[in-house]
Amino acid sequence: MIEKTFVMVKPDGVQRSLIGEIVGRLERRGLKPVAIKMYRMPRDLAERFYAEHKGKQFYDGLINYITSGPVVCMVWEGEGAVAAVRSLMGKTNPAEAAPGTIRGDTALHPGKNVIHGSDAPASAQREINLLFNDYEVIDYSRIDAEWLKE
Ligand code: RTP
Ligand code: MG
Repeated sequence: MIEKTFVMVKPDGVQRSLIGEIVGRLERRGLKPVAIKMYRMPRDLAERFYAEHKGKQFYDGLINYITSGPVVCMVWEGEGAVAAVRSLMGKTNPAEAAPGTIRGDTALHPGKNVIHGSDAPASAQREINLLFNDYEVIDYSRIDAEWLKE
C-alpha cells in the first residue's frame, strides 16, 4: 500500500551535516519526498510529539535534545514507506543498529541517534498533522513511478 511517513533529521544530524546523506538514502530507496522544512521545535510541541514517552527515564533528556537546535521535518511517500524508513534507520540504540543502516553508519548513542521515523501508519498521520498544514504536503507524481512497481 502507498503510505506516507514522517521523518525528522534530529539536531545532531543537522549539526553533523548529515541532512544530505539521509535525504540521499531515502531518495535512493525509491521513496518520494512530499514535504520538507527546517524547523526549530518549541518545547510544548516536542512534549506533544513525544507524549508516549512521558515519565520514562530518558524523557527529559529527549525533550532537551530535540529542542536543542534546528531539525529537518519531512514527509516521504511510497509503497510500505513506514517500514521502509524504519529498516533504513536501524535500531533505536545505534550500538545495536546494523552496519548499512543510517544509525549503524552514523551514530553511537541512543540519546544522539540522528533520525526519527514514524513507527506505524497511524503514528505517521498523527505526526504529520502535528508538524505540517495540509497545503504543505504536496500531491505530485514523479517520472520514475512506473519503474518502482511491477
Ligand atoms: P524515534 O521515535 O525517534 O524514531 O526513535 P525510535 O522509535 O527508534 O525510539 P523510541 O523508543 O520511540 O524512542 C524515542 C527516542 O528517545 C530517545 N531515547 N533515548 N537514552 C535512551 O536510553 C533513550 N532511549 C530512547 C532516542 O532519541 C529515541 O529515538
Ligand atoms: Mg519512536
